[in-house]
Amino acid sequence: MSLGKVLHMNGGVGETSYANNSLFQQKGILRTKPLKEKVITDLYGNNQSPPTIISIADLGCSCGPNTLLMSLEIIEAIDGICRGSKYKSPEIQIFLNDLPGNDYNTLFQTLSKFQENLRIKEPSFPVCFFNGAPGSFYERLFATESIHFVNCSSSLHWLSRLPEGLEDNRGNIYITNTSHTNVLSSYYNQFQRDFSTFLQHRSVEIVSGGSMVLSLMGRKNEDPYCKESGLHFKLLADVINDLLSEGHIEEDKLYSFNIPLYTPSPSDIEKLVEEDGCFTIEYVDSFEDDWNESRKDSSVNDDGFNFMNTVRSVVEPLLLEHFNEGVIIEEIFKRYQKRIADCMAKEKTTLISLVACLKRKTK
Ligand SMILES: C[S@@+](CC[C@H](N)C(=O)[O-])C[C@H]1O[C@@H](n2cnc3c(N)ncnc32)[C@H](O)[C@@H]1O
Repeated sequence: MSLGKVLHMNGGVGETSYANNSLFQQKGILRTKPLKEKVITDLYGNNQSPPTIISIADLGCSCGPNTLLMSLEIIEAIDGICRGSKYKSPEIQIFLNDLPGNDYNTLFQTLSKFQENLRIKEPSFPVCFFNGAPGSFYERLFATESIHFVNCSSSLHWLSRLPEGLEDNRGNIYITNTSHTNVLSSYYNQFQRDFSTFLQHRSVEIVSGGSMVLSLMGRKNEDPYCKESGLHFKLLADVINDLLSEGHIEEDKLYSFNIPLYTPSPSDIEKLVEEDGCFTIEYVDSFEDDWNESRKDSSVNDDGFNFMNTVRSVVEPLLLEHFNEGVIIEEIFKRYQKRIADCMAKEKTTLISLVACLKRKTK
């Protein structure tokens, strides 16, 4: 099944929306700021005649404060280089990409306020044009050699489709220590195909010397069973299994539900980039973030509420599509919060993010 039509984050600006529950991902965006600044500096430093129009693409932008944060970082970086220098301020075009089911209405509504605030705050900022670019980043999105910089944060772990051959993963919803090796291969093969396709399309679209900064969920080591990459999904599976044993969910429904993402290791990324051959790896590293990072003040105990909502805003549309049971959904997340709180009280609970910066080789 292709995920293009069903995968999206919780839209709007309500309590369970992605816009209101993406602090965790926001920290990831802030982490890559120095890399983005370097990429923009290189665009000027290595270029006798820097572009008069700079085209940026934010792939898997979703909607909410994070989308605009990435745009602001880029506009500020370009302004920082051009202001008071020999360079003429360029025009910037920013393409905001996500799947067609993304809440573009909310995105475009927040965008117009953002542009207005920008004009008031910094009237001398470069002129900036925003465009929506709906579609899958596993397909071509832009004209040949038209993009200088691609940002893709917290998105590339999502696969283009649910891998085939997950029948043996009964009772699990992602890879856990009880998953059969067939299940690992199914997930890995799908990731390998998807990531290679992503690189092929971007290598056509990005200009020579242009760059990508990618951040995605992953793992630190080569062990696909490692706890950090799927503990939060294991807890969710436990809740759904309880509901099954209490008769609230049908067996077939649970056994056919799996999360369509993959958490690669840094060397998975390096290997696939090398095989593709069009990009050089400028940087790759992994980072560990505590589940507590999902709240504004991580010193206040919220009984797992914010981390539950962080996961909810991402997986709820998939659960609703699959189980089609609005009432059960509330029960699932009530129980899930309790599991999260118990787990956080007992052990170290972290997620791993990978960050990579790739540069398009000269064509
Ligand atoms: C967790 S959100 C990340 C949003 C934002 N980039 C951030 O850092 O907060 C992941 C986004 O990736 C999008 N996505 C997943 N697969 C995609 C694909 N194949 N093409 C375009 N967007 C995709 C999802 O729809 C979702 O909006």
